[in-house]
Parts: sequence; C-alpha cells; structure tokens
Amino acid sequence: MAKSKAKLKNYLYPIPAVPVSCTGSDGRPNIITVAWTGVACGTPPMVSIAINLMRHSHSLIKETGVFCVNIPDTKTLHATDYCGNVSGRDVDKFQELGLTPVRGDETGCHYIDECPINMECRVRHEIVLGSHELFIGEVVAVHARDGILTPEGRINVDNIELFTYIGPEYYAIGKKLGQYGYSVDKRS
Ligand SMILES: Cc1cc2nc3c(=O)[nH]c(=O)nc-3n(C[C@H](O)[C@H](O)[C@H](O)COP(=O)(O)O)c2cc1C
Repeated sequence: MAKSKAKLKNYLYPIPAVPVSCTGSDGRPNIITVAWTGVACGTPPMVSIAINLMRHSHSLIKETGVFCVNIPDTKTLHATDYCGNVSGRDVDKFQELGLTPVRGDETGCHYIDECPINMECRVRHEIVLGSHELFIGEVVAVHARDGILTPEGRINVDNIELFTYIGPEYYAIGKKLGQYGYSVDKRS
C-alpha cells in the first residue's frame, strides 16, 4: 500500500460528539459540545473530556470539579451542534434551545433531560496537555430514560437513534457488522 506523510494532527475516526453540561458556582448551567471524549477506566467507571483552556466551560469545571456527559440522539443532534458553536459567556444555551436542566442528585451539576442517558461525573484527575486540559471524571450516577434499562440495571441502546462524528460531519449509525468476539467464535 503506497503511503505519504500527513500533516501532524490527531486523526481518529469515528468519534462521539456529546453535549457536556456543567454548572457555575452561581448555579447557572451551561453546555459545551465535546468530541475529544472517551472511556478512561472500568473500575471505577471513568470517562475523559479534553477542554480547551479558553472555553467558558473550562472555568466552570475548574471551579466546581464536576460535569455531566449527556448521550445525545438524533433528536438532540441540532442542540449538540449549537452548543459547540456559541459560548455560555454570551448565551444561556438551555434557555435558547428550550432544554430542561435537571440538578443531579450526586454532584449538583445539571444534566440535560432531553438526552436519553446522563452520566454525573466527579473530576478525579486534571492534566494540562497544551491547548487542552484533560479531565478524567469518575461516573458517580447514571440516569437513563424509561424503557432503556434492562432488568439487571444495565442500559440497552438498541432503541436510541445514536449518531457519530467524523469531523466535521455527523453521521447516523450504519448497519451492524458483527459483535464482540465474532472473529474467534468457533461456533459460527
Ligand atoms: C462537534 C464539535 C466538537 C467539539 N469538541 C470540542 C472538544 O472536544 N473540546 C473543546 O474544548 N471544544 C470542542 N468544541 C468546541 C466547543 O464546544 C465550543 O467552543 C463551545 O462554543 C464552547 O462553549 P463554552 O464557551 O460555553 O464553554 C467542539 C465543537 C463542536 C461543534
């Protein structure tokens, strides 16, 4: 396969794009869209978000040490894009979008009721890497819309219309191609 060197950047496709909510010490909630997010640990459950030091949300998360990762569906895609293009310094994004802020009982941080899954996170590690600071948050409560919880208390996303981000475009999730372990399944 012939190859040439590309410009140095972080190329990773596809990735999520999630609205992350945070609440200032004055009690006012804000939302920032984050594509540089990921699963960081299983036990305890942790997720990471990389936030540019210039963002309004950066100061709010530094102030309070908590944030909520909200999993959007195609219905909340428009809001997800909007929250990544205007600043909470200028606009009350919850009010502008008609979204409902719900105060998380574990952290006091507001989450977005219209998103089907909300993870309340408490910052455990903060690392300034350059333009962005990596916040690693422990998931301390998960809120799931009625109808998506299994009897064991897990979440089944089959009926949620998820989307993915291949910057700068958003895509619907395509057809299922296999499942975990299918490459070593001797039964097939
Ligand atoms: C799809 C998408 C992904 C983004 N990902 C990030 C990200 O990972 N980290 C970041 O700091 N900003 C990211 N941004 C930019 C911020 O969301 C944007 O600057 C936002 O307006 C900041 O809001 P705030 O000033 O209220 O904090 C992204 C924007 C979009 C549209």
